[in-house]
Amino acid sequence: MRFLPVLFVVTSCVLAPASKGGREHYFLTQVKPVLQQRCVACHVGTLPPPALNLTSKASAFTRSASGRDYILPGDPDCSLLISAVQRGGTHPKMMPRTEVSLTEDQIGMLREWIEDGAYWPEGEKGTLKPQKGVENP
Ligand code: HEC
Repeated sequence: MRFLPVLFVVTSCVLAPASKGGREHYFLTQVKPVLQQRCVACHVGTLPPPALNLTSKASAFTRSASGRDYILPGDPDCSLLISAVQRGGTHPKMMPRTEVSLTEDQIGMLREWIEDGAYWPEGEKGTLKPQKGVENP
């Protein structure tokens, strides 16, 4: 069984975490634009707490009234944000609350981001503002 150690090395390379720079790039180019265009118009903090406020890391990493984490780093299936965007067409709490759902690619991207630790930078880079998108052109 001399090939086993080799297999192990290959596997651990695949699972090696991305660098901080890689995570920041992923957040800025993938996650932030989708949240800004599809979610932040409503999730800006005008809803009474503990409703989800996606404008900064501090406000986004909180728990819902039912005690569930909106974003649980490493665990997309336990993150309410993922449950909400995966809800079917006529579910009363489907997100975003618009005619246009997220695409499978966008949901997969958000799942991957949370699975990889949900990196969210501090400061200006991590500050989200509503942006023109599909439902607020
Ligand atoms: C048109 C307005 C609107 C848009 C756009 C929108 N939401 Fe919401 N969302 C709401 C309202 C209103 C609620 C109910 C208050 C609350 O629980 O935050 C809500 C609730 C939620 C909840 C809590 C659901 C639950 O089961 O308690 C999550 C998570 C959520 N939204 C995520 C998102 C995400 C992610 C996006 C973007 C893909 C998004 N929302 C876009 C209005 C919106």
